[in-house]
Order: sequence, then C-alpha cells, then structure tokens
Amino acid sequence: MIDTFLSSKLEIIEGLTQSASTISPKYFYDTKGSALFERITHLAEYYPTRIEQEIMATHAAAIAANIGTGCTLIELGAGNCQKARVLCELIAPARFVAVDISEEFLHEAVNALRSALPAIDIRAVAADLNTQIALPADLPLQQRLVFYPGSSIGNFDPAQAQALLKRTRGLLGMDGALLMGVDLHKDLAVLDAAYNDAVGVTAAFNLNVLNHVNRLIGSDFDLRQWQHLAFFNETESRIEMHLVAATDTLVRWSGGQRSFTRGERIHTENSYKYRVEDFLALLARSGFSRTQVWSDERSWFAVILARP
Ligand code: AVI
Repeated sequence: MIDTFLSSKLEIIEGLTQSASTISPKYFYDTKGSALFERITHLAEYYPTRIEQEIMATHAAAIAANIGTGCTLIELGAGNCQKARVLCELIAPARFVAVDISEEFLHEAVNALRSALPAIDIRAVAADLNTQIALPADLPLQQRLVFYPGSSIGNFDPAQAQALLKRTRGLLGMDGALLMGVDLHKDLAVLDAAYNDAVGVTAAFNLNVLNHVNRLIGSDFDLRQWQHLAFFNETESRIEMHLVAATDTLVRWSGGQRSFTRGERIHTENSYKYRVEDFLALLARSGFSRTQVWSDERSWFAVILARP
C-alpha cells in the first residue's frame, strides 16, 4: 500500500515536471472522480455507454449463446459493477471477479452486488491495469471470460493497449474469451460534444484530477486557475483532454515546484477512436485470432468477442 502510494507520487511528479506536463488518466478515479464519471455515462452527449448497452441488449441472445453459462467472469475496470450485473443475469457465471483501481468505490459496489446475486461467488481485486493483475490463486483457469466494457481500452495508447491485451490473453486458457467494448471513429461534432458536455460534468471530472493530485503529492493546485479543454486529434484518431492554465501560476509540493505560464497545458487523457479493421488487427497482434463483432446501425461503437 505504501509502495503504491510512493510510486503514484513519483509517477505524478515525473509527469508534472516534464516540459510537456502530463497526469495519467488513472488519477481521475478517486471516489469523487468515479462518481463524476458515472454522471458522464448518463449525459445525453456521452453516447458510448448508452450505445454499448443497446448493442448488448439487441444481441443478448447471440452473446449468451457464444459464451454459455457457468464461466468465471472477470471484469476489468468494474466501477459500480452495473454492467457486470446485466451480464451476470444474461450468462449466469459461477464466479465474478471485479477488478478496479478505485478500491473504496469497488468494495461498495461488490457488497451491493453480493446481496443482489447471492448465488455467484463474487470477489474484488484492486489493481492498476498498467501492471500484471494478480487474480485470486484459487480461481480456475478453465472457462474464463474477461469483460472489458466501456471502451476503456481507448484510454491507452496503441502500444500500451497491445501490452494490456497481451496480459489479458495471459489470464486465459485456450477455452477463454474476451468480451469488450470499443468506441469507433465517427463524425467530429459527435465526438466533440461527448467530451464537452453542456452541463460541464466532463470539465468537473477533468479538473477533479487536480484535487486528487493535491492529496497524493501534497501540491497546491488551485482549481480556479485551470480550464478544461477537449478536442479530437484527427491525425492520432483520439480525443485529447487537457487542463489549461488560465493565468501564470506556480504549483508547489514538498520537495518541488513547477511554474506554468498562461495557456500552458497539462495533458490528462487520450481516448482513441478505432476503425473496426484496425482494432481486429490489434487483437490479432495480441494473441486473439477468432473474433466476432456486433455494432449499432450507425457503426458508432462495437462489442467484440475475441478468443485465443
Ligand atoms: C473511461 N473512458 C472510456 C472514458 C472515455 O470516454 O475515454 C473516460 C472519459 N473521459 C471523458 N469522458 C469520459
């Protein structure tokens, strides 16, 4: 725990003190950030959650038939476990392992799920998806299904995404499968609105990372001096989120400081938007050769079942 705390601290300071400042998007998810993200998923402009749910509902029978019952379901980035709950009702797994970086949020969600689904053996694993996930030692290798919804894979750059998919492949036996959601490349206006919502929840989510950083490294970021910026970078096929300094400002923490000039940015997140064929090629490079794709009629989002 202390090690994790120290390495987070070092990682954040290293990111902040680079000439082009960065904060990893994993620091969005303190308790408040997780709650803000949940609000984002209900926004009219934020289509990914809604469309993924629609695809899963429309193709529920085909998805269930492909997976069968009695598997060990492992969800990466389980959050409030709401998506797993729907999937559990569909495929009746024997076990469910919820993996998430936000430990406190995860335990609450898992306790609620245990009361709702008493027949399923439910575990919680707090883990950073950038590292090897240590699953409970008594978990059977057979019939594992890793569930990675919400297009969270988009928050990793392509090389990191491939490494994560390879690690995921390593969690599975030959009879295992990966069921995941992938956000697709689309009209700029739709993408832009999804990350610049009218009510400002995404802005609050972006800014809240500074509160979390203040707690983790003891810095004195003043949120009133920072503004949310999100735009689509067509060359990289990704939404970029940044925090922009509204004035010249000096940020201090114990043992260090960093000055920002007005307009200078901290890069907080990328959200890659894929073309289906490119994502299938990425899966193939990561050890998944058999795939099945379900999408919506506008091809805004894809749900993919991939097997080794
Ligand atoms: C979690 N992840 C898939 C979200 C996304 O769309 O990239 C995070 C997010 N950032 C801003 N809005 C939502």
